Amino acid sequence: MVDDAVLAMKKAAGEAAARRVQSGMLVGLGTGSTAIHAIHCLGQRLRDRELREIRGIPTSFQSSVLARELRIPLVSLDEVDRIDVAIDGADEVAPDLTLIKGGGAAHTREKIVDALADEFIVVVDETKLVDKLGSKSPVPVEVVPFGLVPVLHALERLGGVPELRMGVRKAGPVVTDQGNFVVDVKFDSIPDPAGLERTINNIPGVLENGLFVGVAHRVLFGALENGKPVVRERLRSQ
Ligand code: 5RP
Repeated sequence: MVDDAVLAMKKAAGEAAARRVQSGMLVGLGTGSTAIHAIHCLGQRLRDRELREIRGIPTSFQSSVLARELRIPLVSLDEVDRIDVAIDGADEVAPDLTLIKGGGAAHTREKIVDALADEFIVVVDETKLVDKLGSKSPVPVEVVPFGLVPVLHALERLGGVPELRMGVRKAGPVVTDQGNFVVDVKFDSIPDPAGLERTINNIPGVLENGLFVGVAHRVLFGALENGKPVVRERLRSQ
């Protein structure tokens, strides 16, 4: 699919989610090239005075810088005990709304924020929808640098093929907002995402992994109809 079409689908999905936000809400601000469209749209709605008194909780340095630029008031997790709605992207979405996230290395903060939301809306383009989780994407795992080698061995023992994520236009590995490394682990199949999520997080040295099970409530995905972007919806069955 050409880049322009994917971009149009991402924009349509991100903006559709931002239009569901109401005045006074506390909003989790996701990370990535789809979530930024939602953040831009929230900023525009505030400028147009269509929205008032929302507060954002960023999931990364990227989303916090963008929100500040757009004058979206921010609060920290220390100041709240719940979030009304979180809007965030994903790398893969399975039919039961289980996700793989972490393409932007922000999955640790994203999981904390997205899991606190009364409603977590996932925004993606339709290329992210898969029949089986793990069919395209590896599972990102945030690892404390001190424990890297033992964690790599433990991930291999689980049947994965781990690869340390390297920086682009930066020598050496990607370093997360927490100062850790990211290991991308490819699995042939993931028959039990909830079990794998727990097992990976039990490896000493692992901070968090990008399997999101039972966290998403709704997916808004951009698709193309007669060459035009449209937004379709999937809800998690309870
Ligand atoms: C960042 C993420 C992103 O939400 C995910 O990688 C999707 O990104 P994009 O919208 O750019 O495709 O999980 O850690």
